[in-house]
Amino acid sequence: MVASEIRALFAVASRPEVVSLAGGMPYVTALPLDMVGELVSELVTRRGPVALQYGSGQGDPHLREQICDVMRLEGIQAAADDVVVTVGSQQALDLITRIFIDPGDVVLAEGPSYVGALGTFSAYQAKVVHIAMDDQGIVPESLAQTIYALETAGAPIKFLYTIPNFQNPAGVTLNIARRQQVLDICQRAGVLIIEDNPYGLLGFDGEPMPALRADNADGVVYLGSFSKTLAPGFRVGWALAPHAIRDKLVLAMESAVLSHSSFTQLAVGQYLATQPWREQIKTFRELYRERRDALLDALESLMPPEVTWTRPGGGFFVWATLPEGLDSKAILPRAVAERVAFVPGTGFFSDGSGARHMRLSYCYPEPDRIREGVRRLAGVIEQEMQLRDTFGTGSVREHNGVDTPGPDLA
Ligand SMILES: Cc1ncc(COP(=O)(O)O)c(C=O)c1O
Repeated sequence: MVASEIRALFAVASRPEVVSLAGGMPYVTALPLDMVGELVSELVTRRGPVALQYGSGQGDPHLREQICDVMRLEGIQAAADDVVVTVGSQQALDLITRIFIDPGDVVLAEGPSYVGALGTFSAYQAKVVHIAMDDQGIVPESLAQTIYALETAGAPIKFLYTIPNFQNPAGVTLNIARRQQVLDICQRAGVLIIEDNPYGLLGFDGEPMPALRADNADGVVYLGSFSKTLAPGFRVGWALAPHAIRDKLVLAMESAVLSHSSFTQLAVGQYLATQPWREQIKTFRELYRERRDALLDALESLMPPEVTWTRPGGGFFVWATLPEGLDSKAILPRAVAERVAFVPGTGFFSDGSGARHMRLSYCYPEPDRIREGVRRLAGVIEQEMQLRDTFGTGSVREHNGVDTPGPDLA
């Protein structure tokens, strides 16, 4: 495990005068916080002896039923017995990796991929092999070719880790036709899929996409979370897994923490049972849509034409590509000095690539702040381009390892 050299910079970036387009923090201020306070207080007075007691390793049975209701929105038919409640989906990732990975085993992941997952894979000494991705998600041909090449070389592939909806960091979504292709390729090759889906219900247009797990109960482990649809502070996520894997997950969960907090599990259960949670998700969607629009409009009107970016249909993130010869990590200190922050692209690849990319988050700052942040960033990029034109491209730096910027930035 390695600390990121950019961590210290992000401590500065969290000052109020800096517009942070870096953090992936949900805008929990949009929750009815009085109601949450009452709910929590009532939980202690009415169900204190249960809420403050140890729970089971698999998680509260009633909450697991409710989780099945949530997953039904994405076409998943599952039984509560197949669900393991975890400390956010991050812990599910950790447990899955702990169960499957021996040092040197291969994990396939989109390039770029979620920094928190890459950090976990690296901690267990997995070798991450990236699969090409475009505006429609994972490229099936790249997946098939990579699996073939690894199999031919005798490399043990343990699973494909994928974020099909509003991917972190790229903001792209796997299209419907490719979903079936990805399932078919993995099924044929006997490769397990880990489907990480914290943003699936935060789409701005139309109905949620059907989960990969909806069409394959045996070959997919599905990870879900209440962090983005309710609040990350409860730290309630889950894994839905075939029985053999579920059994190992429960054992791994018990060895890690005995059981998840009964208190926060019951609080989330109570919230789902008594509050209009679908309406709340709609409120979040509208709020994030307005911010996405603010970011895309500002990029369109302020960025030099050589900069390109993705157009997410949901979630939190835009992935921007800088002109040739610019290195996002090298320009971060200058951007922070100009009071704007982003996450450099290198954090999202395990192989040191990504220097020309940056992740821009629109989930947390208000729309006016987003516009101001883009204005500052565009100025920095223009200056960098002038320097490049004056002094040549220089060398885009080599990066090693995974840059883990810290939980509030994940
Ligand atoms: C793709 C992805 N997976 C997992 C997580 C972890 O979320 P949590 O542990 O809060 O459920 C995040 C958080 O940002 C994420 O973006």
